[in-house]
Amino acid sequence: MSLFVSFEGGEGSGKSTQAKLLRDRLSEAGHPVLLVHEPGTTPLGLYLRERLKRQTRQEDIISPSAELFLFAAARAELAAKVIKPFLARRGAVVLSDRYMDSTTAYQGHGRRIDLSKIQVVNELATQGTVPDLTFLLDLSPEDGLARIRAKLTLEQGKETAHQRQDREGMRRFEEETLAFHRRVRDGYLKLAQQEPVRWRLLDATRPVDDLAAVVWAEVEAHLRREPSGGEDVQPGLMPIGERPPDDAAKKTRKG
Ligand code: TMP
Repeated sequence: MSLFVSFEGGEGSGKSTQAKLLRDRLSEAGHPVLLVHEPGTTPLGLYLRERLKRQTRQEDIISPSAELFLFAAARAELAAKVIKPFLARRGAVVLSDRYMDSTTAYQGHGRRIDLSKIQVVNELATQGTVPDLTFLLDLSPEDGLARIRAKLTLEQGKETAHQRQDREGMRRFEEETLAFHRRVRDGYLKLAQQEPVRWRLLDATRPVDDLAAVVWAEVEAHLRREPSGGEDVQPGLMPIGERPPDDAAKKTRKG
């Protein structure tokens, strides 16, 4: 049996950290494991990542539908050439740092492209290679963007030219309005509600190690073919459909 796990969330939610921790733990436990990052990983994906994130001049701005197709093209290449063949190996686990749900959240809810069209594009790109389990690291956009800014200040000076370029390009999404990021977050929460068996909702404000323990327990259960079914059966998992209580208070504040 193989397993395909994706990590989703807004900017600064800590999904890449969790994906890497899980990769290390699975690999220590002897599983053939592959971590991929979207957009990226394949030569075409890396080329498209660079282009999608570069938007310093007016003429570089990509239209919403072109953006949708570029993310989809990167995914089609990754799914067909990397994820699907790896999953064919016995006991293989693929971890994806973002996947098709990012397109629904960002291009669908964020850019407001018709969700039924997004679904068609996602189906074309993935060709049935879809995650068995998806972790949503839920965080308010205010907290997520503040985390990114703090991290960038710390890392400045230590990064390579390539990392700097990626960081600068990152602003393309980071500099979207707060309203855009709120739509992305609400979009993710809706997706989790629609498919509670696949999704696990995590409160991304919790300590990294606590989150890693919850993720590991869920993945282990899946590998033993005993998924918990998305119910709040273990500490750390939030019932899908609920927001962390501190958020309700924040929503009433301005800015
Ligand atoms: P990240 O993976 O390094 O966080 O950066 C990817 C950025 O691209 C992030 O802002 C989310 C955005 N994105 C989309 O808008 N649609 C997609 O389908 C994917 C995979 C990412």
